[in-house]
Amino acid sequence: MDPQTGQPPKKYFIHTFGCQMNEYDSGKMRDMLARASYLPAVSAEEADVVLLNTCSVRENPANKVFSMLGRLGELKREKPGMIIGVAGCVAQQEGKNILRRSPDVDLVFGTDNLFSLPEMLEQAGQGRRVARTGWGKKSKEKDFVPPQEALASLPDGPKGQVAIMKGCDNFCSFCIVPHTRGREVNRDLSAVVAEVEALVSRGAKEILLLGQNVNSYRAGGKNFVDLVYGVAEIPGLERLRYMSPHPKDFNLALAIAHRDIPQLCEQVHLPFQSGSDRILKAMQRRHTMAEYLEKVAMLRETVPGVQLSTDIIVGFPGEEPEDYAATLDVMRRVRFDHLFAFKYSPRPFTPAAKLEETVTHGQKGERLDGLLALHLEILAQIHQGMVGSVQEILVEGPHPKNPEDRLGRTRGNKSMTVVNCSAPAGALLRAEVTGVRQYSLIGKEVKPWT
Ligand code: SAH
Ligand code: SF4
Ligand code: F3S
Repeated sequence: MDPQTGQPPKKYFIHTFGCQMNEYDSGKMRDMLARASYLPAVSAEEADVVLLNTCSVRENPANKVFSMLGRLGELKREKPGMIIGVAGCVAQQEGKNILRRSPDVDLVFGTDNLFSLPEMLEQAGQGRRVARTGWGKKSKEKDFVPPQEALASLPDGPKGQVAIMKGCDNFCSFCIVPHTRGREVNRDLSAVVAEVEALVSRGAKEILLLGQNVNSYRAGGKNFVDLVYGVAEIPGLERLRYMSPHPKDFNLALAIAHRDIPQLCEQVHLPFQSGSDRILKAMQRRHTMAEYLEKVAMLRETVPGVQLSTDIIVGFPGEEPEDYAATLDVMRRVRFDHLFAFKYSPRPFTPAAKLEETVTHGQKGERLDGLLALHLEILAQIHQGMVGSVQEILVEGPHPKNPEDRLGRTRGNKSMTVVNCSAPAGALLRAEVTGVRQYSLIGKEVKPWT
């Protein structure tokens, strides 16, 4: 029973689409709901409040929201009184249109209105339909996370994530994010440190610093490298990562930080989007491929063994077979450990959406398949080369299919199954790579956990 109302506690269910920033925001929603005495439900069917935290970076995830709303509408007819809310990037983009288009939705709130959730839920509970998508007061530096929320979150097992900024000022020509997340706002270094400390004190061993362009961070005279040094000093923090840096802002000082800070993992996600300078220009990425490759060389020289991942878009308007060949060429040269590849999808408000699409859907599919096949070939070689090496593993928990084994990650962010291992989540151990799968490793402890 809820002591205040004498009613059974209400339950919520959040479905999160999209990127880590949405995951982070969903975590904050959970914190606010917990504070308002809501309990988590295991499915939408069991919940009194269902929130969809949406992504609009490509057409597919955006469309999924509306099909999911259709199914939730049916559920609501069986369960009147259920509150359905839409948050995140589609909510920011569509605002009130969602209330018009989906009569069962009670609540729409944009990316800058997250922390009014308790108030909006109260209004929805009184039968009002609410849409809030306004932007907060404009300021380049601001703690957009209220202090009680910044210090509330529970880490996800041994891993936690902290937003260091929101929004983006880059306006890559294909990207809707600057429109759905607004202009870049950086949090004060002390606020970031306080939130990391709170997560570490609750058991986090690894922290991921989040932002759309983390290495453009600047607040109170501090830059991203200062921030990384500041966070790494927090006692009990074992591993630090960040996502995503922009190649144009990647510099030697950050590479040196990787070399000199033991907590900062030897892993960098560095999107290059296309191997062709002509396409990079049309994408407004503000760097050439030669500059990108120079930075990769600088990073590899400074941090031997650093593992790289990237994002690529295939089928941008005007992408000719030779542009695509240039992308494959970069893949062969850099040999990424992880690849996130996407078919170009025109998005509202973006300059690229005005360009005529020259690559058919089928061609985009073929190009994507070609990239993934090449990546698998390269990955098989990389993984074979790791057999026999000893890796530091952060244990995330038991293997879901075999509880005698553990799932963990290397410092390079590769997933590893450690066989016959009893180490608890959060343990750091050393394991020898004994086998490989397509996307992950198999290993055994060098010295069994006791
Ligand atoms: N801020 C990050 C990217 C965020 S979006 C960065 O700049 O690295 C994540 C990825 O989605 C992008 O890197 C890009 O590869 C992809 N993406 C963004 N807009 C897209 C679009 N319109 N069509 C296809 N892929 C897109
Ligand atoms: Fe989008 Fe470019 Fe900003 Fe990344 S850097 S969020 S791709 S506009
Ligand atoms: Fe998607 Fe918004 Fe993230 S569009 S990728 S959820 S910033």
